[in-house]
Amino acid sequence: MRGYFKAKMTVAAALLASTAGMAAAEDVEVLHWWTSGGEAAALNVLKEDLAGKGIGWVDMPVAGGGGEAAMTALRARVTAGDPPTAVQMLGFDIQDWAKEGALGNLDAVAQAEGWDAVIPAALQAFSKYDGHWIAAPVNVHSTNWVWINKAALDATGLGEPTNFDELVAVLDKMKEAGITPIAHGGQAWQDATIFDALVLAEGTDFYKAAFVDLDPAALGGEKMAAAFDKLIKLRSYFDDNFSGRDWNLASAMVINGEAGMQFMGDWAKGEFLKAGKVPGTDFVCIRFPGTQGAVTFNSDQFAMFNVQGEGKQAAQAAMASAIESPAFQSAFNVVKGSVPARTDVPDTDFDDCGKKGMKDLAEANTAGTLFGSMAHGHGAPAAVKNATYDVITAVVNGEYSDGASAATALAEAVAAAQ
Ligand code: GAL
Repeated sequence: MRGYFKAKMTVAAALLASTAGMAAAEDVEVLHWWTSGGEAAALNVLKEDLAGKGIGWVDMPVAGGGGEAAMTALRARVTAGDPPTAVQMLGFDIQDWAKEGALGNLDAVAQAEGWDAVIPAALQAFSKYDGHWIAAPVNVHSTNWVWINKAALDATGLGEPTNFDELVAVLDKMKEAGITPIAHGGQAWQDATIFDALVLAEGTDFYKAAFVDLDPAALGGEKMAAAFDKLIKLRSYFDDNFSGRDWNLASAMVINGEAGMQFMGDWAKGEFLKAGKVPGTDFVCIRFPGTQGAVTFNSDQFAMFNVQGEGKQAAQAAMASAIESPAFQSAFNVVKGSVPARTDVPDTDFDDCGKKGMKDLAEANTAGTLFGSMAHGHGAPAAVKNATYDVITAVVNGEYSDGASAATALAEAVAAAQ
């Protein structure tokens, strides 16, 4: 804890020094996993914004959707006593690093810029530790989306599906048309992204009981069995080469009409936009059938590590400040597919899917139907998240023939991980 408060004083001093022009902010070394076309386009908005402020960018990309590989690389850097300046991080991982005393303190810039009043409480739960700001939220992604190729949907003669039976009817028509109904990447975090939505579709109270409260009766009960049975059904609409496919390659299958739809967070929209596709014309964005009115979210945050030197600390404060500026919040999220981390950013520059995303988030926040995504580290700590990954992926890989046995296994795996 001593190191913690030492960091607090030095970051504050660095901020004051840098604003007084005494310690020029140095470059920032940033560890992230934004390597797909859409992600890189959004990242460039941040790099250029910082360059305009005289802050150079030392890139440390670690490819791998969902960030598992990036977190492994981070652990190695910190163990070697050489943490990056800033790290893209999700939810409970931020809290775990804060518990280790590894993160710097951003209170000075947060208080100077009034973050407490404009960052939603659901994000602050992860951006702060012990009442101190230790990360700067960049965005709010949500995961219960379906991205549908509009020509493929129109060819079915059916409307946008609003429940599981209507979804199956659309998928069957797409299969008859000879395209891959569901574009999927067989990686644990992607399997879990679909399962987040299936659990949410069983009911918001049920999602909270199972994936936030970790209630054993919910995890092993009938509704969870029903969610797994639906996952087994959806698995029958994947193509034979889905195993190991990167998420953005699955997005490309929908973009080019080879597949009908993808169940994925709204970073997928960044791929459609990068490909020049237009919402409502080339693709439609809908909430996963049965989850309308609710949102499972994940927020990309930059956690600032304890680094030595006033110049590095000034650069951290300047990066955090740049990230939270309303203008940047709009420019970045328009490209990334997410929505702003601040509640005071207008939706003027967002497309129809972005506008829907912002509206859905505000309404879910008010209605109490906004939940952290288990698949993306906002439902429970990593040990529990990984325990759910193991069972969900086993179901996708055909190791369970019925939902009830999978639900029993899930309850046991989560109990063992706590
Ligand atoms: C999520 C992250 C997104 C995007 C996605 C695919 O966890 O929040 O920004 O990177 O992974 O890699």
